[in-house]
Amino acid sequence: MDFASAGFGSMMIDFVSARPQQPHALALPVGKDRVLTRAGEEADHAGGGQLRRALDTARADGEVAQITEVLAPAGLDCSRLLAIGHGVPSKADGSVWERIGAALAARLQTSGERHLVIDLSGLDASAAVNPAAHVAFGVLLRSWRHDVYRTRLSERQKPTLEQITIVDQRADTAEVFQRLRATAEGVFLTRTLVSEPANIVYPETFVDRCSHLAELGVEITVLGQEEMEALGMGALLGVSQGSSRPPRLLAMRWDGTGGAVKTPVALVGKGVTFDTGGISIKPAAGMEDMKWDMGGAGAVAGAMKALAMRKARAHVIGICGLVENMPDGNAQRPGDVVTTMSGQTVEVINTDAEGRLVLCDALTWVQRNYKPGVIVDLATLTGAMIISLGHEYGGLFTNDDDLGQQLLAAGRASGDQLWQFPLGDAYDKLIDSPIADMKNVGPRYGGSITAAQFLKRFVEDGVKWAHLDIAGMVWAAKPGPLWDKGATGYGVRLLDQFIAANHELG
Ligand code: BES
Ligand code: MN
Ligand code: ZN
Repeated sequence: MDFASAGFGSMMIDFVSARPQQPHALALPVGKDRVLTRAGEEADHAGGGQLRRALDTARADGEVAQITEVLAPAGLDCSRLLAIGHGVPSKADGSVWERIGAALAARLQTSGERHLVIDLSGLDASAAVNPAAHVAFGVLLRSWRHDVYRTRLSERQKPTLEQITIVDQRADTAEVFQRLRATAEGVFLTRTLVSEPANIVYPETFVDRCSHLAELGVEITVLGQEEMEALGMGALLGVSQGSSRPPRLLAMRWDGTGGAVKTPVALVGKGVTFDTGGISIKPAAGMEDMKWDMGGAGAVAGAMKALAMRKARAHVIGICGLVENMPDGNAQRPGDVVTTMSGQTVEVINTDAEGRLVLCDALTWVQRNYKPGVIVDLATLTGAMIISLGHEYGGLFTNDDDLGQQLLAAGRASGDQLWQFPLGDAYDKLIDSPIADMKNVGPRYGGSITAAQFLKRFVEDGVKWAHLDIAGMVWAAKPGPLWDKGATGYGVRLLDQFIAANHELG
C-alpha cells in the first residue's frame, strides 16, 4: 500500500508498491550465490548482462551488506545501481536488513545522490521479519549526524541524500516501521545528548533537552540543589560542590498501563556531564572524552522517549543523576566523609570515582519515592570495564539471575550486547573503610566489580537490581554498522527491548 511520505529529521522515507519515475539511485538485493529478484534479473537484462558481469568482477556472492556499485548503468533509468547482498534468505533477520539499509545510507550519504530507491519487491513476502521496515530503520540510524558546530563543510562533505523510497508489497510495513521509528527517535535523543559538549549540555540544560517528553505524556519531576540538600543526598552533592553548575535530579515517569501496573520498573542513569576527576584530577590527554560521562543518563532519556513515542503498555520511571565533577576551592577532598541519603557513610578516597556517589543517592531516592520492583542502572562507571570487554559488550552485574537472563536476551535481540560479571562477599569486603561504612574505591584489580558492589549496598531488600557498566559502548572512535564515529546511542534499543519482552501488558 502506498502512503504519504513521512518526514524524519531531514530524511524522507516512504514505502510504495512500484518504482517511482523521478531521477534516483537504485538498490537491488542479491542473495547468497548471486540469486537476484525478478527486478534484479530485469535490470541485468536491460543492461545486456552488465549487473552480473559487475558481480563477477567484484567477486560478490551476496554476502550481507556487501555493495557492488555500477555507475551510470546501461539500459536503466537511474544514476547508479547498487547490488546489495542479503545472504541466505532464511537467515535474514531484522538486524541483517538494518545493516543493509545502513550500508546503503553510509555509501550514498555524501555521494551527490539525493534520492535512493530500494527495490525489495520479489522477496519472500511471508517471512517473519519485515525487510522494508528494518531497512528503513537501518537507513535512519546510520544517517544520523551531529553537524551543528560544523559551519565550514564543503559541498562534498555535506550530506546530499534526502529521500528514500522503498518498493515493497507487504501490508504490515507501516505498522512495523512506526514502532522502529519511535526507537530511532529515542536513539537520536541519546546521541545528541552524548555528542553535545559540556559547555552546552550540563545538568540544567540536560533537563531542558528532555522537557519535550512531557508532550508525549511523560510526567517530569526535577529536583534542584536545595531539595536534594533537604533529602540528605550528601554523596551526589559532594561530587557537585566543586562545580559552578548546579546539580539536577531528573525523574521521567511513563505509565502506559492506565494505572493497572502499580509497581514500576526504574531505569537510573549516571549523568556526569563532565568528569575532570575532581581533585583526583585526570590526565589531560583524552579528558575531552569525559563529556560523554553522561551516557547512562542519555540512554535512560532516550529509552523513555522511545517508550512514550510508541505508547508502550508499561509503567517505567527514568531517573538521571546530573552533576559536573570539577576541581575547585570548594571541591570535595580525598578523605572527606559524606553521608548518603540512605544514611550510610562513605569515605571518598578518590574523587574520580564519582559516578557511584551520584548513583547511590539516585538509587535511594527512586526506591523511597516510586517503590520499583526492578531497577536497571546504566553508567559509564569504570575504565576497567573497557579493559575487560573492549567496545563489544556492556558489563552486566545483578542480584537476580532471572533479571540477568532477561537483560542478556534483550542484548542479543537488540544488538546492544551484554556480558555478565560476578558479584560476591569477597568483593564486597574490599570496599570496607576504617573510618566510615564504606570507601568509594577498592584495590586496582576487579575495579568494575567493586564499583558494582558499592551500588549494591544501596539496593533495598526484595528489589531486583541490575547494573550495566557501559563505559566502552557510549562512544565509538570508528564508524560501526549502524552508527558513524561518535555517539552510538547504546542502551536505548536494549532497554526498549527489555521492557517490551518483560514488562508490557499484552
Ligand atoms: N567516568 C569514569 C570512567 C570512564 C573512564 C568511562 C574512561 C569511560 C572512559 C569514572 O568516573 C572514573 O573516573 N572511574 C575511575 C575509577 C577509579 C578512580 C576507581 C577509573 O575507571 O579510573
Ligand atoms: Mn571519574
Ligand atoms: Zn565518571
